Amino acid sequence: MRIIDIIEKKRDKFELTKEEIDFFVQGYTKGEIPDYQMSALLMAIYFNGMTNEETVNLTMSMAHSGDILDLNRIDGVKVDKHSTGGVGDKTTLIVAPIAACCGVKIAKMSGRGLGFSGGTIDKLESFEGINLRPDVEDFIKQVNDIGIAVIAQTGDLAPADKKIYALRDITGTVANKSLIASSIMSKKIAAGCDKIVLDVKVGSGAFMRTIDEARELAKIMSDIGKGVGREVVCLLTNMDEPLGINVGNILEVKEAMEVLKGIGPSDITEVSIQLAANIVSIGLGIEYDKAIDMVEKVIEDGSAFEKFRQMIEREGGETKYFDDMDLFAESKYKVNVLAPRDGYIKSIKTNEIGRASMILGAGRETKEDDIDFTAGIQIFKKTSQQVQEGDTICTIHTNNEDAIKQATEIILNAYEFTDELVDKPVLIYDIVR
Ligand code: URA
Repeated sequence: MRIIDIIEKKRDKFELTKEEIDFFVQGYTKGEIPDYQMSALLMAIYFNGMTNEETVNLTMSMAHSGDILDLNRIDGVKVDKHSTGGVGDKTTLIVAPIAACCGVKIAKMSGRGLGFSGGTIDKLESFEGINLRPDVEDFIKQVNDIGIAVIAQTGDLAPADKKIYALRDITGTVANKSLIASSIMSKKIAAGCDKIVLDVKVGSGAFMRTIDEARELAKIMSDIGKGVGREVVCLLTNMDEPLGINVGNILEVKEAMEVLKGIGPSDITEVSIQLAANIVSIGLGIEYDKAIDMVEKVIEDGSAFEKFRQMIEREGGETKYFDDMDLFAESKYKVNVLAPRDGYIKSIKTNEIGRASMILGAGRETKEDDIDFTAGIQIFKKTSQQVQEGDTICTIHTNNEDAIKQATEIILNAYEFTDELVDKPVLIYDIVR
């Protein structure tokens, strides 16, 4: 078999066989296929798509490119949660402790942020000293002891996806449904959970820009799950504006802690409760309404907040912030961005807010970049809200004085104002079971 024949076959819109898919996945992972040929193939897939059978074969090939975790030594149903990526999306930090408090086992491996989209691991590293790379034995023991572990994805799980995703990220080939579905599901299958709740983001800060596209992605991932005997529930949620107020690592951790205390912004609280209730409902096999009651109760009585503290402590992170959030480090510069006119906020180009946050130091342009944990943006005015000229719409946080002007311009260009009343955005479009 030759890679050039596979590239030409996909370029000419033919369906690839399982053997051909295994050939390029294995060949690229082992370094036998160079980046330039893999890039050409990915671009051909990006434009010509894949059939469902090709997508399943790609998923399984990437899932089996490394270890498949055996979580059988963890008692109870293990439910994993994954978001397709967004701006200000700190739901894992909220949902995982809530679900664990309700009795679902959370054994979760998460990723880092790249480009405009943030990552859970960067957020958790806001707690100094935290070790997100325990060995598998410690990971399993932690889940058995306290019901929850959120750690970094190990190098041995779906290494093909890791390598291919990094290449997609720099070749403009991320936003393809088959490639996203196979990337996410290969990791989930390798991570060994019984059931999966997926948060499929839709809108200007997501890879899927329309509800129809997101629904199709959700269906592909549910079908892959069904094919391998894993129940999958997908929530289609709004990413036409950042979720919550805070974007940036420490800022997002603080907001997650506020939601767990029951004092967080309403949009992120609502989305988190719905995600958590779906996890609890499928994890415990109980009615959705009952799951909602349980979720609300563990927020109200403070046990979800305490579970988060317990997880950070167990993973070696500094916990003084749970007693006083003001102890978190802050950026040297805090600069308000002001509304340039009276009116209503019509829309926010959310990917641009993510880009501004990255320029301020909160994210990475390339995998090697360092991040500034204190940097980010607080979005005080969101879609449908009325503003007057000079009102603060956002506050920029950064230690890089040189980035302030550019970030301010990006933020102002991301906002669209109107004189007409604007409807409040819908938070959850659909739940695909
Ligand atoms: N998240 C992933 O893990 N993979 C993708 O391809 C897109 C989002």
